Amino acid sequence: MSKNLIAYFSRAGEQYSVGNITKGNTAIVAEIIAEKTGGDMFEIKVVNDNYPNEYTPLIQFAKKEKQENARPEIMGDVNIDNYDTVFIGYPNWWAEMPMPIYTFMDSYDLTNKKIYHFCTHEGSGGVKREGFAIYGHTAQNNRAEAEKQVSEWLKGVGF
Ligand SMILES: Cc1cc2nc3c(=O)[nH]c(=O)nc-3n(C[C@H](O)[C@H](O)[C@H](O)COP(=O)(O)O)c2cc1C
Repeated sequence: MSKNLIAYFSRAGEQYSVGNITKGNTAIVAEIIAEKTGGDMFEIKVVNDNYPNEYTPLIQFAKKEKQENARPEIMGDVNIDNYDTVFIGYPNWWAEMPMPIYTFMDSYDLTNKKIYHFCTHEGSGGVKREGFAIYGHTAQNNRAEAEKQVSEWLKGVGF
């Protein structure tokens, strides 16, 4: 039997187009995927969390982290051997994955695992990876629609 891990990075606080949120857009999609696949959730959190809660400073902070090709240290540990499928979720940050996702992918041996990316964004596009993408404001404000889109995607990839 296949065991699924849903590893994700997501920010609450002030986010584009949805105002001040208590649960990140990507976190909501991670939750839906966990419900629909019966997987375990793992939130990727950085050890020294200095990400600003306001959108504009966060944008600048993330830009610098990307320019530096940083690998912010991440918290926690997950026994990756327990899983044969790993969903990796994140917001689109500057048309790419946030740097803590790189730390995650560097930290764990994902050889021979089925990897599915999922991403929330606000429409500007970015590096395309095979996977699922949804507007952050849809995840945040229209759960039924988000569930529909997630279900269609999961069905399409064999869940
Ligand atoms: C630092 C930063 C950079 C972003 N860059 C982009 C971008 O390049 N393209 C885009 O469509 N959305 C961009 N966004 C919007 C987020 O992808 C979107 O709001 C996302 O749903 C936030 O997810 P979260 O609440 O899980 O963190 C950016 C947001 C932030 C905070």
